[in-house]
Amino acid sequence: MAFSRRDFLSTAVMGAVSLRLEGEDRKKPGPDKAEAASAGKRPIIISAANGFDYLNDAFAFLKDGGDTLDAALKVVQGPEDDPNDDSVGLGGLPNEEGVVELDSCCMHGPTRRAGSVGGVRNIKNVSLAAKAVMEHTGHVMLVGEGAERFAVAQGFPRENLLTEHSRKIWLLWKETHSDWWGPGLSSPEWHRRLPAAPHADDFERRIERLKQVAAEIGIEPEQRMLAIRKVLFPPTGTIHCSALNEKGDISGSTTTSGLAWKLPGRVGDSPIIGAGCYTDQDVGSAGATGSGEENIKVAGAHTIVENMRHGMSPFDAGMDALKRIVRNYNGDMDRLRYMDMTYYALRKDGVYAGVSLWDGYEPGKPHKIAVHDGTKRLEKTVSLFAGVSQEWPPTPQ
Ligand code: GLY
Repeated sequence: MAFSRRDFLSTAVMGAVSLRLEGEDRKKPGPDKAEAASAGKRPIIISAANGFDYLNDAFAFLKDGGDTLDAALKVVQGPEDDPNDDSVGLGGLPNEEGVVELDSCCMHGPTRRAGSVGGVRNIKNVSLAAKAVMEHTGHVMLVGEGAERFAVAQGFPRENLLTEHSRKIWLLWKETHSDWWGPGLSSPEWHRRLPAAPHADDFERRIERLKQVAAEIGIEPEQRMLAIRKVLFPPTGTIHCSALNEKGDISGSTTTSGLAWKLPGRVGDSPIIGAGCYTDQDVGSAGATGSGEENIKVAGAHTIVENMRHGMSPFDAGMDALKRIVRNYNGDMDRLRYMDMTYYALRKDGVYAGVSLWDGYEPGKPHKIAVHDGTKRLEKTVSLFAGVSQEWPPTPQ
């Protein structure tokens, strides 16, 4: 990907300026527009954009009478299996110790069951492990070592999930953002560490230094700016998928490697039934990608489904959940700019919406929702605020 230093600086520095100018509650484009865009066809599958490549198979399966949860799992398993998607499953960005820890949950509408696993190591398809918890235990949620042992007992292979690609980006983070890693004082490679809180003038120097360390680690030149972005703005990745068939059966699944460089044991919103995913056969299904900590506090997916139950459109239901996040910060834009959230909402009649807190993570790359209702497509989500988010931690300007 072509991503020049100028582009990066525009993203990181100018983005902050534009937020202050534009970061106001955007006038809603109107639910009518959002409703018109979502035709209300069945069957239908909606997912995060990284599910796009896997929609055809899942849609054909659903159309042939396949189960709605299995259809959703076919979509999310794609990025789980893909070592190049570093936000989910194999190749996911690891925790601060360099260990990949995965989270997932699912809900099966027709039988009103749920399953979840959190903080799981060494198991690639945690979406399927969550389904196994649902089908083969009397519990709903297993975490950590117990979840891993359960998955192995169920026949899931133990695998090393850390790819070279993700290990090198983690190393870049580790060498530049932690205290004791990197060459020591006695090494000819020793360099004075960057100031902890650089001023605006230091920012370019900081990027130059990161590029130098990235080169030393062996990150390919065309990957360096992408890696640096992930170091400065740790991503949350994630995929959600909801599937609805002609009969009105509906299910959902969400899976993730979670926030990059997180503390070991940190569990985000994705395995939390009601936050990362919620499905009610009578109403619809919803899921989330973005800042997990914020979504847990508003029980986003459950809030959306309950809003729909009480008559809101999927669009209004999603916007309301976003506004609850804003309310938790009393509308403080200096903090809200460091988080982001995208909600995917699918009502039982096939009407859907994709809404986001911000336009995207970086300029020119809007958040999108992938849809298949006979026609496969990507659509921009409607955002509450204009501008791009900068994920936590803030890079001092
Ligand atoms: N939404 C994914 C996470 O925060 O872990």
